[in-house]
Amino acid sequence: MGVNFSRINEAKAVFDDIYTMQDPRAYFSVLGELDYMIPDVAEPVVRQILAARQALSGVMPKVLDIGCSYGINAAVHRFPLTFSGLRHRYARREVRALDPEDMVRLDRNFYASWPDVGTARFFGLDISAPAVSYATRVGLIDHGIVTDLERSELSPADARAIRSVDVIMSTGCIGYVSETTFGKVLDALDRPPWIISFVLRMFPFDALAKEFARRGLVTERLGGATFVQRRFRDAEEFEGTLNALAAVGIDASGLETEGLFHADLIVSRPEADAKACSLEDIVTVASGRGRPIGSRYVYVDDGDGLRVTLEP
Ligand SMILES: C[S@@+](CC[C@H](N)C(=O)[O-])C[C@H]1O[C@@H](n2cnc3c(N)ncnc32)[C@H](O)[C@@H]1O
Repeated sequence: MGVNFSRINEAKAVFDDIYTMQDPRAYFSVLGELDYMIPDVAEPVVRQILAARQALSGVMPKVLDIGCSYGINAAVHRFPLTFSGLRHRYARREVRALDPEDMVRLDRNFYASWPDVGTARFFGLDISAPAVSYATRVGLIDHGIVTDLERSELSPADARAIRSVDVIMSTGCIGYVSETTFGKVLDALDRPPWIISFVLRMFPFDALAKEFARRGLVTERLGGATFVQRRFRDAEEFEGTLNALAAVGIDASGLETEGLFHADLIVSRPEADAKACSLEDIVTVASGRGRPIGSRYVYVDDGDGLRVTLEP
């Protein structure tokens, strides 16, 4: 068992029931209602990091999403889709009326109908069997692993399936999992990976960074930027989080005091990769990018080269 996050987790609302439904409709409804946005705000940054990783090897990275749930990170990275856009799909009354099997059938067609923008291939790991089954069946992830590595071991078959992974990522999952889960995954890999972690600021990362350092990985935290996860569900969660932050000596003013959970971006890489290019050189955070805006001029490649077009 790794570092004990259970005291800190007491501050957070419990959502176990929406993690274990047969499809993501309740997940999008309940977390969407709380303006859950970490997959969307992480997306441009993860894309930059995956591009930097691809530039090293020349091949498309294989990403293992720890706490992949219904495969939402794979959806926003592989396709021009967003959590907030998907939320509207699942909120339609016609969609809410579907039975879960029909939902899976329609979602398999839905995701297959979008162009894959080719940032990465995705594998997923989660404690929830229904969520992993959905993510696999609709084609968002190539391979899904259902396990709780805090309490059990990775099976030899699952270890073999992920051995060629080059990037591990997680959003909204550290706190549920610790260095114990990451250590077991790292043991299964052929090469030391890059690890992209979006971590709520109240969860200390020291034990994870120490586990990674033992394996030759250098951990950097992006300075000068935080990433909103969602708003607090109620006054109890708000005050509990402010107390948890105070207990670990973090000043919440201007961030969590404004009613929102904030995550840090923490990236762990082999020492030589970290020395070759700093995290600040790879990542540019563009404030305002995700806000609703009107039509924008962009380039499209129509086969005869790049052409300027107005995208709605
Ligand atoms: C807040 S959700 C985040 C899901 C997804 N990454 C996202 O951002 O939309 C947390 C996820 O962690 C998973 N989880 C909880 N405990 C876990 C464990 N011990 N091992 C793996 N996944 C776990 C839950 O089932 C859930 O899917």
